[in-house]
Amino acid sequence: MLRTHTCGELSSKNAGKTVTLCGWVHRRRDHGGLIFVDLRDRYGFTQIVFDPEKKQVFSTAETVRPEWVLRITGAVRKRLEGAERKENPTGEIEVVVEHIEILNQAKTPPFEIDQEKDVNEEVRLKYRYLDMRRERLRKNLLLRHEFLRLTREFFAQRDFIEIETPILIKGTPEGAREYLVPSRLHGGQFYVLPQSPQQLKQLTQIGGLDRYAQIARCFRDEDLRGDRQPEFTQLDLEMSFVTAEDVMQINEEALTSITKKLRPDVKILESPFPRFTWEEAMNRFGSDKPDIRYALELVDVTDLCKGCGFGIFADAVKNGGVVKVLRVPGGAIFSRKEIDGLTETAKVYGAKGLAWIKCLEGKFEGVPVAKLGEETTKQLAKAAKAEQGDLLLFTADTFGIACTSLGAVRIDVAKRLNLIPQNVFAYCWITDFPMFEIEKETGELAAMHHPFTRPKNEHIEKIASDPLEVKAEAYDLALNGNEIAGGSIRIHEEALQKQIFDALKITDKDAERRFGHMLEAFQYGAPPHGGIAWGLDRLVMLFAEETSIREVIAFPKDQKAKDLMLGAPTMIPEKQLSELHIRVVED
Ligand code: AMO
Repeated sequence: MLRTHTCGELSSKNAGKTVTLCGWVHRRRDHGGLIFVDLRDRYGFTQIVFDPEKKQVFSTAETVRPEWVLRITGAVRKRLEGAERKENPTGEIEVVVEHIEILNQAKTPPFEIDQEKDVNEEVRLKYRYLDMRRERLRKNLLLRHEFLRLTREFFAQRDFIEIETPILIKGTPEGAREYLVPSRLHGGQFYVLPQSPQQLKQLTQIGGLDRYAQIARCFRDEDLRGDRQPEFTQLDLEMSFVTAEDVMQINEEALTSITKKLRPDVKILESPFPRFTWEEAMNRFGSDKPDIRYALELVDVTDLCKGCGFGIFADAVKNGGVVKVLRVPGGAIFSRKEIDGLTETAKVYGAKGLAWIKCLEGKFEGVPVAKLGEETTKQLAKAAKAEQGDLLLFTADTFGIACTSLGAVRIDVAKRLNLIPQNVFAYCWITDFPMFEIEKETGELAAMHHPFTRPKNEHIEKIASDPLEVKAEAYDLALNGNEIAGGSIRIHEEALQKQIFDALKITDKDAERRFGHMLEAFQYGAPPHGGIAWGLDRLVMLFAEETSIREVIAFPKDQKAKDLMLGAPTMIPEKQLSELHIRVVED
């Protein structure tokens, strides 16, 4: 070892002892003829002092600059009274340097390491190894480590076995584009990187290895946001002979236990975690991952708007849509500009607009009022439980658009009104998801989760005739408005799996080509099974009180899926491409 102690462990107990420390120059101060350096490593900081009496050591100290790497030997001494820094674990002592060795010099870093100032994220990503020296990322990565450790420990103690599944596989549909890897040995053929280990984990259950767990890397070529990366990590679980209830229960126990250990300061809003069916969540919160830390709820006023005088509402109802209202307590004071801002939020989610009514003393104000007439307006206000001074916001559209757009407005309003409490973790389950949805881009039927999800037994007969009415044995877990996990009970019978493929218009030939291995495996005594996957990055992000998963990933990609540090992706030399039987076509 080059050192006897780390920079985070010395205290007054060590006073008088000679120690050797290694670390980076965090800060250097010249003060009263002495030079003080805060020496930093992963474990903390120790103040080291250079005395001008020790000429050679002192003159070396005069040359050191921030981020140089030093090895020093010296005696630990208690700091003078008043010079202690109680907030620092080593703040009671300092080390008087007798010997110094410069292990390495450093260029001036592109940003200051010793200050938690906001630094342009591109620069932080390019010099991620320097960003890692800063408090924020270091703390987040340590938290992530603890999270992973506790997760592994929890599930290992409950008989889960960690099984690694391959990365070079065949497509597994989770609804995103896939990353492809060309095969050199099989020209023109490609491996596909897993969007999740979904099929493989199911196959481990058919293999009899009840209770599979894996901290699994997943790859999805999708548009990126703060909560999405092209490459991310799941805690992937699968169990045999279980019901949805069993899967939900063990996960709830795990997250409760991890929350209590890692964030003893937060209050879990409700335990057991509340459950909402998908329909209820959409209806009440306008989201399938509702933030239930605050109360604002949407109210359905479709019936009141049937045939009403305001064309936008009446037409939506006539076309089979719905009208939803959100009451903003005290919102009558919102300016036109603020309401326009909320309208923009609604539009992002497909709403054509946002109708509003202000409830003022003895009167209502807003575009729809005249057309709706006083009686209907009053009834709408009553349905929304409006009081004087409130603002009512309406969306009228298909169920999906009316709910999700007003749901987004709900979040926006909660932020504007400062309604979101701190240090509260509101977990909730969403169940009874629709098995299928109509895909926006193609207009075709698609699996809402994935095609291996089991439809509710009582809905199986509707798969061909009325697929949009079929609900699935699927459950998602939300935390403070973020989807942090999703899973389901699976299909384990070949015939039922084929029925789902039929509904998705996957031909027998195509099903055989893509999923023949699953259909075959189902013929060899597949047990009933089910599981779930946690989005680990998102969970750690929420535990770290960050707003982007990039803050809890050591080497994340930027918003354009680039690794700014490595400079990936890159062009590949012609020779290598030709070995892979690939020719690049210029745009
Ligand atoms: P799902 O697709 O819902 O389910 O993924 C599970 C969880 O993974 C997280 N997640 C992501 N995190 C970061 N970046 C992404 N691009 C990203 N995509 C998803 C979310 C999500 O809840 N095989 C199924 C699980 C199962 O059925 O057991 C699956 O992958 O937090």
